[in-house]
Amino acid sequence: MVQQENLLPKINKQQLPKHIAIIMDGNGRWAEEKGQERLYGHFHGVESVRDIVEGAAELGVQYLTLYAFSTENWDRPRQEVDGLMSLLVDTIHKEVPILNKNNIRLHVIGNLDMLPEFAAKELAEALDLTQKNTGLNLIMALSYSSRWELVNAVKNIGIDVKDGKIDPSTINADTLEQYLSTSEFPDPELMIRTSGEYRISNFLLYQLAYAELYFTNTRWPDFRKENLYEAIINYQSRERRFGKTGHQIQV
Ligand code: IPE
Ligand code: IPE
Ligand code: MG
Repeated sequence: MVQQENLLPKINKQQLPKHIAIIMDGNGRWAEEKGQERLYGHFHGVESVRDIVEGAAELGVQYLTLYAFSTENWDRPRQEVDGLMSLLVDTIHKEVPILNKNNIRLHVIGNLDMLPEFAAKELAEALDLTQKNTGLNLIMALSYSSRWELVNAVKNIGIDVKDGKIDPSTINADTLEQYLSTSEFPDPELMIRTSGEYRISNFLLYQLAYAELYFTNTRWPDFRKENLYEAIINYQSRERRFGKTGHQIQV
């Protein structure tokens, strides 16, 4: 504990990642290890969300994307999906005043057509109520998957080409990026996944092209600010080369 509390001063504030993305994984196993239902883990995962959002805002991180629910997660048992949707709505409802107090703007990326109406409505309200905030941008990836996003982008580009709005010969990376749900946000420099799984699980496949990846065994409900600091310190020790040589980067 004492050692963990000393991590904050080790962070170089001049070299903070602007955008951190997190795959919040391990809630179910955390609960099962305690002999509890999986939903108990999701419930406790909300405390981690609160702590990490606060920690990121205090540091001055500009964008925080949290992967909360994938399009594949709709195939989980009905009881778990329903429980997660209720938890989502309850949490958003309770957190909006805190987001406003801390000048945090909420965004959502994902296939929102799949959300039950009560959840979509609560979410739309929260987006509206926080839209004037100018501090941390908190991006919830909800009913999100990268393949869904890319297919959707290609479909919409196709429609705009057909309507004469785009000349296909001018399509470049910038064009594609404008059609992604992340068009307003810079790419994450740091991606964290908790719970000891070493995979991307359909998260921001395009946007993570040059992100530094950080994996930790800590289950999401145990993840706290100190763990975030540890990930940032680790990130700051890396040399990001973007295809160049180490020598080119150093000069
Ligand atoms: C992450 O925890 C939260 C969601 C995917 C909704 P999990 O529910 O995937 O927990 P594990 O990975 O089964 O332990
Ligand atoms: C990824 O976790 C999705 C979220 C954290 C929301 P999963 O638990 O769904 O991923 P897999 O199934 O282990 O790859
Ligand atoms: Mg999981």
